[in-house]
Amino acid sequence: MDSRASSGETSALNIHEAVPKTISLGAQSRNEPMFVNDDNVFKKELFSIPPHYQPYVQSVLLPHGLIVDRVEKLATDINDEYRSSTPHLLVVLKGGQEFATDLTTHLRRLHAYREGKNIPFTVDYVRVKSYEGTSSTGSVKISGIDLKTIRGRDVILVEDIIDTGTTMSKLIPVLEEHGPHSVKVAALLEKRTAKSCGFKAHFVGFSVPDAFVIGYNLDYNEAFREMPHICIINKEGIDHYRDLPLLASLN
Ligand code: HPA
Ligand code: MG
Repeated sequence: MDSRASSGETSALNIHEAVPKTISLGAQSRNEPMFVNDDNVFKKELFSIPPHYQPYVQSVLLPHGLIVDRVEKLATDINDEYRSSTPHLLVVLKGGQEFATDLTTHLRRLHAYREGKNIPFTVDYVRVKSYEGTSSTGSVKISGIDLKTIRGRDVILVEDIIDTGTTMSKLIPVLEEHGPHSVKVAALLEKRTAKSCGFKAHFVGFSVPDAFVIGYNLDYNEAFREMPHICIINKEGIDHYRDLPLLASLN
């Protein structure tokens, strides 16, 4: 009999015994993201932009094909790092959903070609609201999951963008209270902003300029989520979608 089974560990998932552990706020070392220069943008006329969004896009920052190719490499990095365990992907809704879809597609494919009997990953979804103006770690509201399910697990938070980093830096200590084996963050984008609290995700696709970006499920007041490329919004877009009641009600 598998000794792990007799110790109560589920061998198919490779769940670790919960051990008290200090989890750091962010990555100590990591593979650096692809650095996208401030002036490294493409004219919107070069790509297919949905006509309803055409007037509101300033430029294309990351064409969809590039995003998918870069996400494949992040999946490879994750696959390499979690060879002997089953990471628990905790997708931060709503923005992280598109990234998670492409990431899990690649992870599934990689796992199909590697030795190993464990399930490649498990997935759950979480909504997180961060309250501004407080610096304590308790100022996030987490909904949509039973936090008992992360006990002993190697959690990977799947997030669309690290902007100021405050949400992640507050969320991780709260998760830590529920006994995960480890918590890391996979973020598609990391914004170079002076407002950053210094938080660094462990797996990052792109380091991007300090501009408001939309597309690939990143939204501005719920608009632009279905646009495939990641673009920079223009002033007309900010004005046009500022307060459309239908969109605001989805928030
Ligand atoms: N775009 C969309 N959502 C965001 C951004 C952004 O630039 N920063 C933080 N959330
Ligand atoms: Mg987000």
